[in-house]
Amino acid sequence: MDYSKLKTDFSRVFDRTDGALYFAPGRINLIGEHTDYNGGHVFPCSITLGTYAVAAKREDTLVRLISLNFEDLGIISFDLADLDYRKSDYWTNYPKGMMKYLKEAGHTIRQGMDILYWGNIPNGAGLSSSASIELLTGVILEDLFGLELAELELILTGKRVENEFIGVNSGIMDQFAIGMGQKDMAILLDCNTLEYEMVPVKLEGYTIVIMNTNKRRELADSKYNERRSECEQALAELQKALSIKSLGELDMETFEKYRHLISSETLVKRARHAVSENQRTILATKALKDEDLVTFGELINQSHMSLRDDYHVTGVELDMLAETAWKQPGVLGARMTGAGFGGCAIAIVETARVDAFIKEVGAAYLQKIGYPAAFYIANISDGAKAIKEE
Ligand code: GLA
Repeated sequence: MDYSKLKTDFSRVFDRTDGALYFAPGRINLIGEHTDYNGGHVFPCSITLGTYAVAAKREDTLVRLISLNFEDLGIISFDLADLDYRKSDYWTNYPKGMMKYLKEAGHTIRQGMDILYWGNIPNGAGLSSSASIELLTGVILEDLFGLELAELELILTGKRVENEFIGVNSGIMDQFAIGMGQKDMAILLDCNTLEYEMVPVKLEGYTIVIMNTNKRRELADSKYNERRSECEQALAELQKALSIKSLGELDMETFEKYRHLISSETLVKRARHAVSENQRTILATKALKDEDLVTFGELINQSHMSLRDDYHVTGVELDMLAETAWKQPGVLGARMTGAGFGGCAIAIVETARVDAFIKEVGAAYLQKIGYPAAFYIANISDGAKAIKEE
């Protein structure tokens, strides 16, 4: 990565040369989808696609932000004394929310700042560009103002920004993956306890390919919140007979024994996904540790089927990508990743066959869907950090 352009742009826009560099990744989730807010396990990793920033403090209390991805919007400014959400502040509500909640938590942020952002995460593709901006802003504030943060504080603050400032009822996975990520590792996170384990992603001879549907995710947030409340309702019905706090506490056998308590077939399916996906995530992690890549791939495929048939969050575009991927030679497994309803899928493909794979799946997708998919290679990177230049 050549940082000189970012620094030149920072000088051009803000007329100063003293900016420091920062990076926060995007994320993919290998398996464990829609389990985080159900008290289950997730297994994500941070990727080299991400967001960069150049930042410096100011002497006054003005905050000036620009994104090279939305250059037409120009510099968006606000004062540290007024950090309320404003629709007209567009994407800067993410950094603003981080500033607001860190200040509220008692951290000393008394000076304003100039920050230039640029990201190469495709926009709205479900690779967590918003959590990337949140955590990136968090490490900038930590570094510029020497904040003393409690463990996980930036991660939990990012989630709070998403839930309370922006109004999306998402779980902890994205911020956790982006905050804690490590090169070549996936994170097995128990979302009930926040205990986690770093697991090496050793895929000898295989590559993770990200497949972007390029489908706009217009209904994503409302459908996401709908799935959440369906699971909450199913849980409440099960709690009449079971003393559990979340669906993640159930194994399949117990679920099958008590599912008659759930009032509709739709709710049974939603809850069944939450329970079965959690079990699959634990098994898949074990398979990866045991270097049993075939089992790992099969569980990934089953995850997609459950998201398609029980949770109903895939749609024709994601199904087309995953199902076409399953038919290609040299593919261990493929599934949607992230919230669904568009966005991206991943496939684990024999490295020597990646080019042929992209050609075949790309052509089939274009023919059926009518517009092209995009493909990227996923390399697993470190989490959000200040970049030390040599
Ligand atoms: C989005 C949310 C996460 C998680 C996934 C689905 O990425 O932000 O918290 O719920 O969807 O697994």
